[in-house]
Amino acid sequence: MHMSKIPSARNRGDHPIEASKVSLSDPAQTGAAHIAPDHPSRLVSIDPHYLTKLGSTYLCDSLRLLRELPDNSVNLVVTSPPYALHFKKEYGNVSKDGYVQWFLPFAKEIRRILTEDGSFVLNIGGSYNKGTPTRSIYHFKLLIELVETVGFHLAQECFWYNPAKMPVPAEWVTVRRIRVRDSVEYVWWLSKSPWPKSSNLGVLKEYSDDMLRLAKNGVRETTRPSGHVIRGSFENISAGGSIPPNVIEDRIPESILKMGNNSANDDFTKMCKDSGTKIHPARFPAALPKFFIKLLTSPNDLVLDPFAGSNTTGAVAEELDRRWMSSEQVKEYLDSSLFRFNFHQPGLF
Ligand SMILES: C[S@@+](CC[C@H](N)C(=O)[O-])C[C@H]1O[C@@H](n2cnc3c(N)ncnc32)[C@H](O)[C@@H]1O
Repeated sequence: MHMSKIPSARNRGDHPIEASKVSLSDPAQTGAAHIAPDHPSRLVSIDPHYLTKLGSTYLCDSLRLLRELPDNSVNLVVTSPPYALHFKKEYGNVSKDGYVQWFLPFAKEIRRILTEDGSFVLNIGGSYNKGTPTRSIYHFKLLIELVETVGFHLAQECFWYNPAKMPVPAEWVTVRRIRVRDSVEYVWWLSKSPWPKSSNLGVLKEYSDDMLRLAKNGVRETTRPSGHVIRGSFENISAGGSIPPNVIEDRIPESILKMGNNSANDDFTKMCKDSGTKIHPARFPAALPKFFIKLLTSPNDLVLDPFAGSNTTGAVAEELDRRWMSSEQVKEYLDSSLFRFNFHQPGLF
């Protein structure tokens, strides 16, 4: 598919409407007549960059959006802010020294707008110190502040396993060979209260062949060296799937992994390339927000991503029938994010 323009917010016909021109103030453009009473765009006075049936995204500093949102109005915030990277991305990264102070105002607002049983899922990458092969602990310092100063509870620390991460810094990994490849990022699952809404039944994995075999043949009761007693019913498969670990991975086909690029061939990337649109340089895989949205929310709950980038979270939320909001400060990223909706839900607008 070849497109010379950013896709239309309402249609892909002869008269595309640029995303930037779509505004709540023009019902004819947005289909506002059909905006449901509980549509999230009704929660704030800011004009959305574009709207979908279930969500709205805003071209603004996320602090502005957060400050307008009412207390206790959002069920889940799932996001990946700019990390304190040593090698900075084009959208700018905050320095390690100032990172915690930079992030705290966002975190305080996030806690305020979450429902009492709401969760805040924060994907944050590690970083090397300048000049030595040692790691910064900025993300651990942030976690401590989020719990001890802002008042979040640490529900669980999770990890995003990304085997396609580049072997950097080259100096330490591929040139001097003194460090190994980094292939996980941290995902802090925080909650407003100690009892966040959550059900792992929403994220069950398929049983492995081994589990199915054990269920068929039965298990002998035994005690592991750790002291855990394995009962005959251990491999009971009536739950409908196995409980996933706290490591989230995108199932990437071997063939693509071997090419050393896990996203070069996905539909969003292809559509961006075909239309000559900029591809966001630091997307997370849809599998990441999908896992937490399914674990922590129900249909029609409200999900927010304040550092939206290419709006992966919004598109996944829409697909899962959750209402959503997002904000991003770079127009180009939000414009191209429309491809996600056109691809997943043709005719959505
Ligand atoms: C790591 S990227 C997020 C990528 C996203 N998860 C995706 O899958 O495309 C972080 C984004 O936050 C945006 N950003 C940084 N500061 C912001 C702010 N104060 N308000 C809104 N967006 C901001 C950056 O422009 C960048 O696109």
